[in-house]
Amino acid sequence: MSLYQATASAPVNIACIKYWGKRDTALILPTNSSLSVTLDQDHLRSTTTSRADASFTKDTLWLNGKEEVIKPGGRTAVCIEELRRLRKVAEDANSNEPKISSFKLHIASYNNFPTAAGLASSAAGFAALVSSIAQLYSLDKVLSASQLSLIARQGSGSACRSLMGGFVAWQAGQLADGSDSLAVQVAPREHWPEMHALICVVSDAKKGTSSTSGMQRTVETSPLLQHRINHVVPQRMKDITAAIQARDFPTFARLTMQDSNQFHAVCLDTEPPIFYMNDVSRALVQLVVEYNRAAGEVRAAYTYDAGPNCVIYVLQKHVKEIANLVVRFFPLAETFKDPFALFASEKIGELAVP
Ligand code: DP6
Repeated sequence: MSLYQATASAPVNIACIKYWGKRDTALILPTNSSLSVTLDQDHLRSTTTSRADASFTKDTLWLNGKEEVIKPGGRTAVCIEELRRLRKVAEDANSNEPKISSFKLHIASYNNFPTAAGLASSAAGFAALVSSIAQLYSLDKVLSASQLSLIARQGSGSACRSLMGGFVAWQAGQLADGSDSLAVQVAPREHWPEMHALICVVSDAKKGTSSTSGMQRTVETSPLLQHRINHVVPQRMKDITAAIQARDFPTFARLTMQDSNQFHAVCLDTEPPIFYMNDVSRALVQLVVEYNRAAGEVRAAYTYDAGPNCVIYVLQKHVKEIANLVVRFFPLAETFKDPFALFASEKIGELAVP
């Protein structure tokens, strides 16, 4: 008897140019393109095992050991159905392929970091889910990562960027069916190995406003978002791509900080306003600004997603300097686990500066 099972793991990605807003909520088509860095260490990953078996009576998902309901027509169901449909096409085309598309699936997923704490858990989660079922169905041999990103996108928009390593763009696309809204690799990790990301965990509590509901409120109420979509992001995507290609850190860093600022500005411009950053987040912004000012050059870039946690992009030669500063001004933080890893994680806690 054959065992039909596959395990895949996917890391978190942290956006430099933020995705915020959908033009189609069912297909998850964004209002603007975005660009992120996929973290490549072991600390922030989802690992998913999928198994198909004739004896299973329904598709079942466990997240960190707890069974989650798979809502019919919901995001998980859409991803599973699309992968199953593609498997069926392959089975119909090749009679040697075992007929497993009719079997129900058991899927177990595990995050090694807090879920929904502004650490892009849904991105890693759906990327790992899609990868593992794609492997189980041998679709990874016939579809590219970009093609699979079309499916992961329908699980969670940012998930499409976690299927590739390095620097990844999600092209918003123009078509109504979403077939051109996919992720492409701008540069592999090896292109800029000196790039590091320090993850400063300000809080690992679950966030108040989910990205999904927050961004739609912004689409409906924020005039600033229209300006961002039409007049800011298109140029920023070009500029940051060029900066990455030229390994121009000051430009990369400036654009990253500007885009984080504008993302949080459109949140503030939403009715009612959404606040993701807190006092500790803002103190970390000041620390980075002061650090760059004192250095006389841009050596570090902060960025914040839909939560208070800070990610600091920094080149390897300056990791220790900025890590030491964070620890000095936030004494509740212990020494970073590994300052020379791509990222280090430590809970910063409350600001303890007098
Ligand atoms: C602030 O991908 O979580 O992290 O598509 O509704 O699942 P859904 O939203 P999600 O939004 C991520 C928003 C962000 C910015 C980014 O990662 O680009």
